[in-house]
Amino acid sequence: MIKEEAEKILTNSAKTCGIEGEFKVVFSNMPNCDFQCNSCFSIAKKLKSNPLELAENIVGKILANDYFEFSVAKPAFINIKLSQKGLERLASEIVNKKFSKKKEHIFIDYGGPNLGKAMHIGHMRSFNIGEALKRLYKKLGYKVTSDIFFGDWGMPLGLIMAMLEKEGTLEKYISSELSLNIEVMNEAYPKASKLKDEDRAFKERAEKLTLLFQNKQEPYYAFWKKLREVSVKEAKNICKLLDADFDLWNGESDASEYIDTVINIFKEKKLARESEGALVVDVAVEGEQIPLPKKSPDEVQRYDNPMPPLIIQKSNGGELYATSDIATIYYRNKLYNPDVIHYLTDGRQSQRFTQIFRACKKAGISPPNQQLWHTGFGTMNGKDGKAFKTRNGGNVGLLDLIDMVQAKVEEKLNQNKTDYDQNLKRIIANSAIKFADLSNVVEKDYVFDIDKFTSFEGKTGPYIQYTACRIKSILSKVGYFKENFAFYSDEQKAVIMSLAKLQDSYQIAFCEKSLSGVCNALYDLAKNFSTFYNAEHIISEQDANKKSIKSTLLKLTLNEIESACDVLAIEIPDKM
Ligand code: ARG
Repeated sequence: MIKEEAEKILTNSAKTCGIEGEFKVVFSNMPNCDFQCNSCFSIAKKLKSNPLELAENIVGKILANDYFEFSVAKPAFINIKLSQKGLERLASEIVNKKFSKKKEHIFIDYGGPNLGKAMHIGHMRSFNIGEALKRLYKKLGYKVTSDIFFGDWGMPLGLIMAMLEKEGTLEKYISSELSLNIEVMNEAYPKASKLKDEDRAFKERAEKLTLLFQNKQEPYYAFWKKLREVSVKEAKNICKLLDADFDLWNGESDASEYIDTVINIFKEKKLARESEGALVVDVAVEGEQIPLPKKSPDEVQRYDNPMPPLIIQKSNGGELYATSDIATIYYRNKLYNPDVIHYLTDGRQSQRFTQIFRACKKAGISPPNQQLWHTGFGTMNGKDGKAFKTRNGGNVGLLDLIDMVQAKVEEKLNQNKTDYDQNLKRIIANSAIKFADLSNVVEKDYVFDIDKFTSFEGKTGPYIQYTACRIKSILSKVGYFKENFAFYSDEQKAVIMSLAKLQDSYQIAFCEKSLSGVCNALYDLAKNFSTFYNAEHIISEQDANKKSIKSTLLKLTLNEIESACDVLAIEIPDKM
């Protein structure tokens, strides 16, 4: 790789000056400079010498070479400019870029909708980010397994049963005299959820029914299976709509048969203790969970740097979300033995995952060399900066949000008088949502601005799609072309440099577990392509040599946009 070649030249030159050190070369954003090396600062610090002198010494000793021109910029940067030959080599590296197969197996857990409850926008980011990371891991050569991990074993399905029972239809649904569908569930759940806060007996009944199906009591267990089947079907439709797909459609319920086993592991290893009738595992490390002095004896105990013990068994014996997760790690290791398990959820679950991971490491449920990662994402806010809510303060349904974005896209397509079908509308709306979601730093909240995100101009998904469509159309008019790397203008070079940066962004995204760098690089590529396209006529180019150079750029740009969009799960339409 050409970057490594520059590193090698710098290291060798440093050696002739009697200096050992690691010289790292990165892409530069400075004008008139393609790469730069910032290592002189740290190396000089170690050697207690002057960084500028060091840089000048090293650059002064560089022997003539074919690919680069080195120079020093104050305070102590080494600037690297590609020669024509260097640029051609970079272009051929872009064409031949391959990511080697890795031996690690990454298991990725995202989406996580709760059956019985309609999905809301809180689930959107997990689907978007998780799907893109899964595709990134695959692109980089990892073996990947994905699991949606449904919340299918808790109260919501018990609440639905209690509501149907109260309305006198439960028996009929159980006996299939009435046929169950998603509308019945979508209607029953909100009613039940409201009633449980007002009617204690109803809440207790729902809890009882939950316990009954968890204990596999018939006919409730069989009916639970029916409820699950109906809602899984609905969830799969929504996933299709969002271009998210999974290897495993498992959930909390698949862990239930391992719950006793894992609880026993904690008991046998003496890692669990009883607390107020529940079983808990201490997971705090030194410096955490430090009791604060009480002002009066009956004040609740507060802690500095809190890391509460993890509850693994409730007093009523019902199963817990955390224990389901631990049992899931247990059976994932038994069946798949992954090197990494990566979870994507709302940032508010961070502490909970720290507790779970520590508990699993303590008990040996996760082997020492296995990595457990959790990425917590920020919330999607409205323009007022507060969590995106409906007018009456409720959660915005995922389907409602998609509808809203699709309606906006439809408006724009009508303005542009484009012929379109429903699928085009869906694809553009998806790209607006996904690009907006993924271009933001994962951990941060962001404002969901439909107008801005659906715009066909600026840093948006539709703009990227539009750029790709435009290239397709030009290419179809240019016809046959021969690969030609004899680039001769600054605009052409800028396109090549942004192609290289885009390819470079995948590894960075892997380290950061965030796609924002890929989105930025993709946008820069589209922008630089546009500058090149506006400056140089392509279709009417008469010079065959120049025409082949330009069409090479078209082809390379299209390939790389397509492959980046494939990672982001953004589809490119034929035209728009
Ligand atoms: N069902 C959960 C929720 O809606 C998300 C599941 C996340 N994954 C996990 N393994 N816990 O909050």
